[in-house]
Amino acid sequence: MAEAVFVLTGAGVSAESGLGTFRDAGGLWRRFDPMRLATPEAFARDPAEVLAFYDLRRRGVVAAQPNAAHRALAEAQARLAARGGRLFLCTQNVDDLHERAGAEAVHMHGELLKTRCQACGGIHAQHGDLGVDEPCPACGRAGGLRPDVVWFGEMPKHLDRIDEALRGSDLFVAIGTSGSVYPAAGYVAEARALGLRTCELNLEPSDNAHLFDLVRYGPASEIVQEFFR
Ligand code: APR
Repeated sequence: MAEAVFVLTGAGVSAESGLGTFRDAGGLWRRFDPMRLATPEAFARDPAEVLAFYDLRRRGVVAAQPNAAHRALAEAQARLAARGGRLFLCTQNVDDLHERAGAEAVHMHGELLKTRCQACGGIHAQHGDLGVDEPCPACGRAGGLRPDVVWFGEMPKHLDRIDEALRGSDLFVAIGTSGSVYPAAGYVAEARALGLRTCELNLEPSDNAHLFDLVRYGPASEIVQEFFR
């Protein structure tokens, strides 16, 4: 096992916890229009509709449980740390299932269980529904709270930290992602250019499957613990 592992997860790692993916059959973007619900313009135009969509997704996250893939990643992260290595867990997911399984994760698309005030920038935990006129717990202003997730057209979070971790790794593992949204979709090419070994663990070949040295296909709850055994 490499000692400095960079793991990128996507919606597929949470699929068996009952949280929908985006582009599979029945995926979220097959049922909802992301341009109407997941952009700053959509939120400005109809905050109630956007907040109701994220209330629906937040309730799903709160009701979901981590699965064997989340647990296997948390155990691998602890095992590597115990022997002086590290597993940097970068996730595109906005759920907290990695954390609830005991892992530390960097959420490049933000976190659904957090809310950000557009007036003061304060970020707060949010487990219940978010009303349009809810006052900010810090500055008290009403009507400026939004889910602390990254919408289409917005800059993903923690990019410097992610790039630094990628440069310091010797193995890159992508799990449960279609490889269709940048910058995350470009990480495997960056990893190859840096000389990392690359591995894809997915239900089926992703858009950039050809860029991986090693591929394993099957449900994440089975193939992730197999890989990190
Ligand atoms: N086990 C492993 N992989 C799975 C499973 C499973 N049980 N079920 C589905 N998958 C795979 C699918 O084959 C697909 O390749 O997970 C991937 C999910 O792809 P997407 O739905 O595109 O999700 P993701 O890659 O995370 O999307 C990236 O797009 O809309 C934005 O912000 C959103 O973070 C998201 C980003």
